[in-house]
Amino acid sequence: MSGPRPVPVTVPELLKMKQRGEKIAVLTAYDHPTARILDSAGADVLLVGDSLGMVVLGYESTLPVTMEEMLHHTRAVARGATRSLVVGDMPYLSYQVSVRDAVRNAGRFVQEAGARAVKVEGGRNRTRVIRAILDAEIPVMGHVGLTPQSVHRFGGYRVQGRDAAAGQAVLEDALAVEEAGAFSVVLEGIPSELASMITERLTIPTIGIGAGPECDGQVLVIHDLLGLSPEPVPTFVRRYAEIGASIREACSRFVADVRGGTFPSEKESYHLKPEALSELESKLDPGRRRWKS
Ligand code: KIV
Repeated sequence: MSGPRPVPVTVPELLKMKQRGEKIAVLTAYDHPTARILDSAGADVLLVGDSLGMVVLGYESTLPVTMEEMLHHTRAVARGATRSLVVGDMPYLSYQVSVRDAVRNAGRFVQEAGARAVKVEGGRNRTRVIRAILDAEIPVMGHVGLTPQSVHRFGGYRVQGRDAAAGQAVLEDALAVEEAGAFSVVLEGIPSELASMITERLTIPTIGIGAGPECDGQVLVIHDLLGLSPEPVPTFVRRYAEIGASIREACSRFVADVRGGTFPSEKESYHLKPEALSELESKLDPGRRRWKS
């Protein structure tokens, strides 16, 4: 069934959603079939996160993810999204080495992969990069708090901003990102009271993950939400389905059916027309299993 083409979500529309007090629903996506489903489910933003590395590619952190891997998956997502705004997550070292690299790589997300915005991690240390990417007409989403590309500096995936000084640092990062021109900012792994203060002070939408309910929007990694990532999952994850268990159950039935010879059935097979069958049989030498000459 195909209805009217949905109106695509735009960057200005996300800002208006904050002004109207409407919550923004963001999901990560890494492939075409999932992007189509999440788009039709009403996700406002599809973030092709560098979490790709951990949930899809089996890396231990997001640090090994390359530009080529991100572009490959962003293309697939962009082909599946008709309404959601597709945001490409800039991987480690694609924007930290030089501003020139950052602009070039952000441009590749738009020009080669069909993203309509990019995301970069960091706050006060990232304002030059954000401004330069914006100068190339590419909207930027910021990301502060528990930024996974800083895992080694943090000494693990630890909640950030837990005391007054650390909280103030996260707030200053978020303000700097807004001041540099970002159209929204992800607040990851921070106390909800701090997220609430930041959300009140910013005019751009805050998108929370492990940052409590007061943010302007929420994002979850799709594999966590669907029960596709292994337990234990972080405290902030809500499992809306157990797709991993369903996949395992379905596939073990397939394995049993193949082993038991019950798959495929007659109905699941193609058949020759009777005349073609007898003609072929008459040509086959029964004893030698080859064609009669
Ligand atoms: O990489 C990612 O998926 C992210 C979100 C969790 C915000 O950065």
